[in-house]
Amino acid sequence: MAIVAPSILSADFSRLGEEIDSVSAADWVHVDVMDGRFVPNITIGPLVVRAIRPHTDKFMDCHLMIEDPDRYVADFANAGADLICVHAEASHHLDRSIQAIKQAGAQAGVALNPHTPESVLDYVLEELDLVLVMTVNPGFGGQSLIERVFPKMERIRKRIDALGLSTLIQADGGIKTHNASDFTSAGAHVLVSGSGVFNAPDRTAAIRALQQA
Ligand code: DX5
Ligand code: ZN
Repeated sequence: MAIVAPSILSADFSRLGEEIDSVSAADWVHVDVMDGRFVPNITIGPLVVRAIRPHTDKFMDCHLMIEDPDRYVADFANAGADLICVHAEASHHLDRSIQAIKQAGAQAGVALNPHTPESVLDYVLEELDLVLVMTVNPGFGGQSLIERVFPKMERIRKRIDALGLSTLIQADGGIKTHNASDFTSAGAHVLVSGSGVFNAPDRTAAIRALQQA
């Protein structure tokens, strides 16, 4: 069974509470935070996370696609994020960012862009609750999967298993019911899906199918 995390990036932002209710079959809620610098798009901040927190008791993971993420880690943790994920490419001192997340009381994740080699996880992997492997270039929902990333995901999974770690691998980008098993075969424990869930004719059925991947 995969853990399924619908990305609210593809939800109707004018009624986010109801949209979150509509994916109650899912395991987690994935929040995409974009700053218009690290990625071209701008989305939401800690105030919105605080506003949606009472609408769900699900595990909420905040994917920070923002430069110098340490500045906002405490704000997202205080707003109710259960896990905060920073991009390796956006942090100058990755170990410090990870410690800042933990000090703020959240679980810690590191995200890798499609072109970023997994060697950036050397010396920090043991500290992580989650590694987010981007399977599209971050910034927008509804993009096509970059299949060349799968071998990297496989190598990270092998390393986690060889070290006996409980670190989860989260795949993010281009995941739909028809290709979800390719992601779990490559080692993903957690599947993020935005357009694949929110644009589905039956959101619950889509979530159930992803969970079976
Ligand atoms: C992209 C975001 C993803 C996005 C995925 O930068 O990190 O979480 O919402 O969208 P889909 O599932 O539509 O590719
Ligand atoms: Zn994301």
